[in-house]
Amino acid sequence: MHILVIGGGGREHAICWKLSKSPAVERLSCAPGNAGTSAVANNVALAATDIEGLLQWARNNAVDLTVVGPEAPLAAGIVDRFLAEGLPIFGPTRAAAQLETSKAFAKDFMKRHRIPTAEFRTFRAGEEDAAREYLRNAAYPLVVKADGLAAGKGVVIARGYDEAALAAGDMLSGAAFGDAGTTLVIEEFLEGVEASVFALTDGKRFVTLAPAQDHKRILDNDEGKNTGGMGAYAPTPHVPTEVLADVKIRVIKPVIDGMRADGIPFSGVLFVGLMFTVDGPKVLEFNCRFGDPETQVVLPLLDEDLAALLRDIAAGNLQKSRVAMHDANAVCVIMASAGYPDAYDTGKPIAGLDAIDQENEGVLVFHSGTARRGDAIVTAGGRVLGVTALGEGRDVRPTISLAYGAVQRIAFDGAYYRTDIGRKALSRGG
Ligand code: AMP
Ligand code: GLY
Repeated sequence: MHILVIGGGGREHAICWKLSKSPAVERLSCAPGNAGTSAVANNVALAATDIEGLLQWARNNAVDLTVVGPEAPLAAGIVDRFLAEGLPIFGPTRAAAQLETSKAFAKDFMKRHRIPTAEFRTFRAGEEDAAREYLRNAAYPLVVKADGLAAGKGVVIARGYDEAALAAGDMLSGAAFGDAGTTLVIEEFLEGVEASVFALTDGKRFVTLAPAQDHKRILDNDEGKNTGGMGAYAPTPHVPTEVLADVKIRVIKPVIDGMRADGIPFSGVLFVGLMFTVDGPKVLEFNCRFGDPETQVVLPLLDEDLAALLRDIAAGNLQKSRVAMHDANAVCVIMASAGYPDAYDTGKPIAGLDAIDQENEGVLVFHSGTARRGDAIVTAGGRVLGVTALGEGRDVRPTISLAYGAVQRIAFDGAYYRTDIGRKALSRGG
């Protein structure tokens, strides 16, 4: 099989790494990829959103399966385009991807199908007065969310009316997020432990992967600005087997059945962000793709042939109802450029990568934003590396030490990382 992976971050490096282990994969390509993917795949110099270019390339290079990493090409309809040309592709159609690309769509869908989520109201441009009126009578804190894709910045947790009205006004006018914000959702603030569950589905059947916890804030103890994710670990003890079983019954199955019933079957990865509240699990958000950096901890734990799994799903023919998992745990620490998530420099040489004997040490260094410059590997993004350690059984303590031991052997000018990744596994509060 020739597989083409679309994207160029740590998630795509982890997907390529896992696919490279499948006996059925004869050729692996990644567009555009990064310095890390080039060690396991051939990089193709095409942007992830260049749908026509990717389509031509896939056709000219006898690609048997295309796997889409990021949301932008899904939102732009890459799956619809490939399917119309008869090319197998793993990911949801543009209509099904609305579970991620429109929060108003997702909330309305959940309400109709009785899937547990925060209470909410939707407002559109022109309804500023109604939104203000609603906010004046609301209980605080509450959450104001831009409807569309806003690179993780479209959620404001407001402590009072002034903050909420300002956020809502800036969104509805288009000032904050352009068209992505001119519809917004105002929802109840939920308290509890947050975790993510990933389901691979062909639109009918599904399997779940190890539940994970991300660390979205830039500073230790979940302080500071939101980022794409500064680290992750899996499986999280906050979602034990019986809780995962409950999530499957109350959330995942109704989503997949509901999408099919609505005439827009969802195929690909359903990423469910959940809050485990005193009233049970509630959906915070859906994503329609693998998470980054969750993929870097979830895929190393999967004891299955990923290529066969994704091929079967793309063909609408998932055979399994559960997948085998290694009796292991994984911790990924993101090393980022100084300044991230705001402005940062790139082009800094990275030292120490060769000194890590990756698979023998139980450490996998997934590249997020790197590039080759001559013989050197240099920084090329905000998130640079995802240093991932693997440990046996359920005790994450030695895995955390292993990950940070490796982080300390890697150096680049301005390298920044959180020092508390995985600690949530050790606390009851999550
Ligand atoms: P979202 O993009 O919708 O997942 O929101 C980003 C982050 O905001 C989530 O990971 C939560 O930490 C937080 N968040 C979103 N919605 C709520 C809510 N209803 N209650 C509390 N926190 C929330
Ligand atoms: N780590 C969160 C995401 O991929 O959206």
